[in-house]
Amino acid sequence: MSDQQVEIPRNEVILKKSEDVLEQYGKSLVGKTILVTGVSNESIAGELAIQLATADPKLLILTARTESRASSIIARIKETKPDVAVRFLDLELSDLSSIRKAVDTDLADITTIDHVVFTAGVMACPYGVTKDGFEMQFCVNYLANFLLTKLLLPKVQSAGPSSSMIVVASSAVRQGVINFDDIGYSNGSTYDSFTAYCQSNVARVMFAKSLGNKLKHQGIRVFSIDPGSVTTGLQQHMDEDLQKKVAAMFQNGFIMDVDGRPWQPQQRATRSQGAANMITGMIDPTISDHNGAYLSKSLLADDELHRHVLEEENWTRLWELSEKLIQEPFPV
Ligand SMILES: NC(=O)c1ccc[n+]([C@@H]2O[C@H](COP(=O)([O-])OP(=O)(O)OC[C@H]3O[C@@H](n4cnc5c(N)ncnc54)[C@H](OP(=O)(O)O)[C@@H]3O)[C@@H](O)[C@H]2O)c1
Repeated sequence: MSDQQVEIPRNEVILKKSEDVLEQYGKSLVGKTILVTGVSNESIAGELAIQLATADPKLLILTARTESRASSIIARIKETKPDVAVRFLDLELSDLSSIRKAVDTDLADITTIDHVVFTAGVMACPYGVTKDGFEMQFCVNYLANFLLTKLLLPKVQSAGPSSSMIVVASSAVRQGVINFDDIGYSNGSTYDSFTAYCQSNVARVMFAKSLGNKLKHQGIRVFSIDPGSVTTGLQQHMDEDLQKKVAAMFQNGFIMDVDGRPWQPQQRATRSQGAANMITGMIDPTISDHNGAYLSKSLLADDELHRHVLEEENWTRLWELSEKLIQEPFPV
């Protein structure tokens, strides 16, 4: 393996903290309405919500499956930033009817949302299907966001240029492809939990690319981001078998991506460093000309993506498949 093939420089980047990004650009968040999904007590989104509150937005809409999962975050914001309004939104991403109800009914009075951060997700869970019959990780990590984006877009468009829709993904995008001919792994008979996690992250990144392209003329920022390696509730399905499988992917400290390029997973990050990537996507003006790009370590990182992800035909194919699955067109 030659030194040139290995992406050492980016691995030496000092990770930004949320506080750093907010100090630089946080003024643009004053008075804004921000919706964040996946806010539970130990999640990166929970930290993101606490960090965003320090920038004096008007309203934070925080989603979780049950209010108790977000209660300590909400209590902390109310205590430290009493002037920031917080609204809890009940959202179950494995049920498309819950998504429609959340937007059509519970958010009916909110006409403008400046920033949406799609953070909720699940990693490498045992095979499961959603209420609507979709493979769990594909739906929760991706398809739910496709529908949510469609439903929320008019509110974001109402906020105008410099609003944003941020799709949280993962460096697992480097190990996956979309299994277009069998998106649900033959009803589970060919399911592999890590492969399905990678597929869902490829979908997230491709979706951000399509959406970013479609919305760039409106000045609506769209980025997919890898928050880095943060200890959270996400690792709950990482049992011994899965750890062994992931360990077996390494060769001398490197993993080969889908195109056979070696890369080195990141060092551990704190929740604040993980959330910094999302805040960068939301407001860092220096990346505005790269709508739809993938960010890692708060930097533009499309060079980390393999050919299947970068192939525009695949973005279109995914968009059309998603419209078919949610049984609604999503013209932009
Ligand atoms: N942590 C990392 O190292 C890492 C690395 C790369 C990418 N990511 C990505 O970062 C995002 C945030 O992960 P995290 O590390 O903060 O994990 P986390 O602590 O497990 O948070 C994930 C959140 O998603 C919610 N969620 C899961 N299934 C849901 C469903 N069906 N409907 C609604 N909400 C659901 C969880 O709710 P419950 O609390 O109710 O389960 C939780 O609030 C994920 O999308 C993940 O893919 C994380």
